Amino acid sequence: MADTDSLLAEALAKIAEADTLDLLEQHRVAFLGKKGSISALMKTLGGMSPEERSEAGARFNVLRTEVADALAARKVALESAALEAKLASETLDLSLPAPEASTGSVHPVSQVMDELAEIFADMGFAVATGPEIEDDWHNFTALNMPESHPARAMHDTFYFPDSDEQGRSMLLRTHTSPVQIRSMLKEGAPLRIIAPGRVYRSDSDATHTPMFHQIEGLVIDKGIHLGHLKWTLETFLKAFFERDDIVLRLRPSYFPFTEPSVEVDVGYSMEKGRRVVGGSGDDEGHAWMEVLGSGMVNRKVIEFGGLDPDEWQGFAFGTGVDRLAMLKYGMDDLRAFFDGDLRWMKHYGFAALDVPTLSGGVGVSA
Ligand code: PHE
Repeated sequence: MADTDSLLAEALAKIAEADTLDLLEQHRVAFLGKKGSISALMKTLGGMSPEERSEAGARFNVLRTEVADALAARKVALESAALEAKLASETLDLSLPAPEASTGSVHPVSQVMDELAEIFADMGFAVATGPEIEDDWHNFTALNMPESHPARAMHDTFYFPDSDEQGRSMLLRTHTSPVQIRSMLKEGAPLRIIAPGRVYRSDSDATHTPMFHQIEGLVIDKGIHLGHLKWTLETFLKAFFERDDIVLRLRPSYFPFTEPSVEVDVGYSMEKGRRVVGGSGDDEGHAWMEVLGSGMVNRKVIEFGGLDPDEWQGFAFGTGVDRLAMLKYGMDDLRAFFDGDLRWMKHYGFAALDVPTLSGGVGVSA
């Protein structure tokens, strides 16, 4: 009798004190487990007389049931306390303001200009600029296109109604080439510049907009030849498209300001309906596409730049920045570049902190 009372008191006290589920389980094993004290008590029934057994058996059963009930109740209490604690630690304050969504992004044209500046800076080129409202002399005459030159007509020039004080007609520059003249006159030689910027021509369809972007390159030094031009363009295009398998094809062409003049094609193939630069245009499934105009700077242009063409030679190139962006990042309509549609900007824009670097890769996925 005393046995069961003290055992019950001990068990209930321990169960009440148990503050973890682990400790409670240890107590369960110690009392009700196969080798537990209550189980041991049950085993003594076998050695009792039938009268003793029916009396003790009833007592032991009550003991066992009370301990089991106490264990179960304590378990429920401990489990719900654990759940409460977990919920409290994971509480979200839904009244806090949402984290600020990033708004605004870098336009692909700006991004590509940054990429180009990064690539050419590595080859020792500085960035030069010139005015978008240009005079006739810098845009045409000094680039070996005198007034009657037929190439002038091909530029679909926007002219201003009035001339400047010196009687020169004013226009929106039709290309970045006048920066060649301005840089030579200002800096002299040797010279290594790129000139990215806006240019204007009266033209508009899916691949032409009245305003677009070009980048000009100019190197003036001694003993410069076509080999330097080819190496520079190849190095630039490989870095820009981030591929080693870029193949160039130089085709004889004509620009008034270069002699000889070369148009540069790159090989490409179609993948999922878009042009992917790489490989030779003569390879199976490939074709050529023109990407650049270039050539050795015409002697007359070097003279207009105030330099002696017997002493200084150079090469120049020009290409469309928007087109480079379309080729690299896969847009198909140039007009969308200038619509200011936020959905387009969200899709094709670049995060402001994704600055192009040569070590990190100039292009970041759009
Ligand atoms: N200015 C030329 C154009 O707009 C491109 C060019 C630049 C060609 C420099 C040769 C040298 O088409």
